[in-house]
Amino acid sequence: MSQQIDHFEFVPQMSAIAREAGALLMDYFRARVKIEYKGDADLVTEADRSSERLILERIQAQWPSHDVIGEEGARIETGGDYRWYVDPLDGTTNFAHGFPVFCVSLGLAFQGERKAAVVYDPTRDELFAAERGRGAVLNGERIAVSKTPKLVQSLVGTGFPSHKRHKNPNIYFYHQITLRSHGVRRAGSAALDLTSVAAGRLDGFWEFNLNAWDTAAGILIVEEAGGKVTGVEGHALAITDRDVVATNGFIHSEILHEFQEIFAGRGLEPLPDPREYRK
Ligand code: IPD
Ligand code: CA
Ligand code: CA
Repeated sequence: MSQQIDHFEFVPQMSAIAREAGALLMDYFRARVKIEYKGDADLVTEADRSSERLILERIQAQWPSHDVIGEEGARIETGGDYRWYVDPLDGTTNFAHGFPVFCVSLGLAFQGERKAAVVYDPTRDELFAAERGRGAVLNGERIAVSKTPKLVQSLVGTGFPSHKRHKNPNIYFYHQITLRSHGVRRAGSAALDLTSVAAGRLDGFWEFNLNAWDTAAGILIVEEAGGKVTGVEGHALAITDRDVVATNGFIHSEILHEFQEIFAGRGLEPLPDPREYRK
């Protein structure tokens, strides 16, 4: 049964900011923006920068004493208790190609602990939100992770970095977990992957080398929806930890076990010969 949640402290104002930034992204998306490059496959657009400017202005107007870390360079670092982690456009590669999977992600930490979170998908008008100890919602309705008990029955997600992609081992994990589940989706927005776990649309998600602006909001939303989030060794995640495994809780130890096997080089399925496959 769904339940209206109206006792959030920060979420109402955060939602208004995320919706405003989302509307701005949609204007750029419809107009199709020029692609610029931060690295060989690391894209950025004017939409990323304008969205971050807008968010920074709104945060500073309402919470002038709060620190802010934004992906596109926003930095207010006074060592204060509150710190925002802002991804003004998560899913830039999708956005730049006209593939409609992207969002705005706003995470707020208090003394280094995730406290409040909003992820807004303007393409579907879906706003995910959570506050520590107060539950997680999608458009105001309570959400919960799935109850899928086994990896073999699961749909999971992952992502690949655009930066230093040659050094990322994830293609091996993608291969192995694809063979041990219903499939692995690579949707292109880590924040939305996490909210998909929170809403029970995916049973799990993992990615290596993410940044706090990708994960600060999504991790809290998964936890408040009853899910489990750790590092690949099963440890609790500090806000700046970069490797993330998020699940419905039921398949968590199985995924971690698979990862240990892959890291140890055990049970790796050989790449099939395409000529054999054709027969
Ligand atoms: C990226 C997306 C993508 C993930 C990359 C991130 P950006 O963020 O979240 O899904 O695989 O690791 O860098 O660059 O679109 O904000
Ligand atoms: Ca991102
Ligand atoms: Ca981004």
